[in-house]
Amino acid sequence: MATRILGIESSCDETAAAVVADGREILSSVVASQVSVHRKYGGVVPELASREHLRSIVPVVREALECAKLTLKDLDAVGVTYGPGLVGSLLVGLTYGKVVANALGKPLIGVNHLEGHVRAVFLEAFRSGRKVALPAVCLIVSGGHTLLCEATAAGPVEPLSAALLRYRKIGQTRDDAAGEAYDKVAKLLALGYPGGPIIDRLAAHATDSARRQAEHIDFSPTKVRGNPYDFSFSGIKTAVLYYVRAQPALQPEIEERRLALCKGERNADTLLRLCSPQTLGLLVSFQKRVVAELVSRTLQAAEEIAAQSILVSGGVAANNELRSSFEREAAQRSLQVFFPSRELSTDNAAMIAAAAYPKLLSGQLAGLDLNAEAVLPLA
Ligand code: KG4
Ligand code: ZN
Repeated sequence: MATRILGIESSCDETAAAVVADGREILSSVVASQVSVHRKYGGVVPELASREHLRSIVPVVREALECAKLTLKDLDAVGVTYGPGLVGSLLVGLTYGKVVANALGKPLIGVNHLEGHVRAVFLEAFRSGRKVALPAVCLIVSGGHTLLCEATAAGPVEPLSAALLRYRKIGQTRDDAAGEAYDKVAKLLALGYPGGPIIDRLAAHATDSARRQAEHIDFSPTKVRGNPYDFSFSGIKTAVLYYVRAQPALQPEIEERRLALCKGERNADTLLRLCSPQTLGLLVSFQKRVVAELVSRTLQAAEEIAAQSILVSGGVAANNELRSSFEREAAQRSLQVFFPSRELSTDNAAMIAAAAYPKLLSGQLAGLDLNAEAVLPLA
């Protein structure tokens, strides 16, 4: 009989619930996004996020059970994100998870959101029948995190869904997260929120001549003192800002896009029509630099620790340029690179249920005193 875990995730602006069997098979995964609530502020507003989680948590969990054709009584355990994230948001999912587990008399497992992102990669590998070999270098890139770490097995590695992992931090961002840089650049250029998906799509439409227009912008490799594996994205974002300030010709189109967004016209085709080749070129250069920073440090780390695999996860892992760049570079080095599907890249609860499974098997259970942690290191 399979072990069925209900996963609950509410660390930022997605209320999510999922049921996963044996840490590998997704029986259901429901995500209620709050993007439309936060959009007009250009970022997540914590108070609004908590309120939305409160509104969504009950119907989202109910839908996850319905999709899995299960009732609460069929569950074996509840896995819930307890950090890192917005405390007010985390508390909603955590409190609900505690109540469900306690009422059912089932185990409660606290999950680190970042470990969830790593497990999302495994879920996709299980689905596609690929084998992830350890040690692995994990790059977790989202709107809130940019973290490079090593994952090794803390015990038996087979099956991987049941294996406890040990993490060691290799590098992290010193300032903005990579997704945050995308979101801030999109805000500056009036491209809407979140910025990553739209910049990804628009950059793909730049012609060669558009690309050449932005080649002179100073997007030189970022130098970070101390740990060579640390990242910094605020300088790249500032380079975009200075470039835009120095180009008054870009202002009318920025204003036009602002008006379009106010009218709710935010699809990629509309915004593409309102972007000059110069803007598209700027987006290409910005994205090229961000991707190069992520890929080069990850590959260097993989070489240093003789990694067998590279695991890339978090919202930015959905980026097409990042995926193709990793695939190209990894193939040249005979390294295996793994991504979650696009749905599993961004926040979801299937990854939380999957991360809870090995902890359940090894008896790492949480009590009702488990608290929400805004800062919760993975390693
Ligand atoms: O993992 P996630 O859903 O939430 C956090 O934990 O932050 O990641 C959201 C972030 C946002 O900053 C968004 O702009 C970025 O991921 N993102 C992307 C893409 N899709 C989402 N960034 C670049 N390219 C994309 N295709
Ligand atoms: Zn996340």
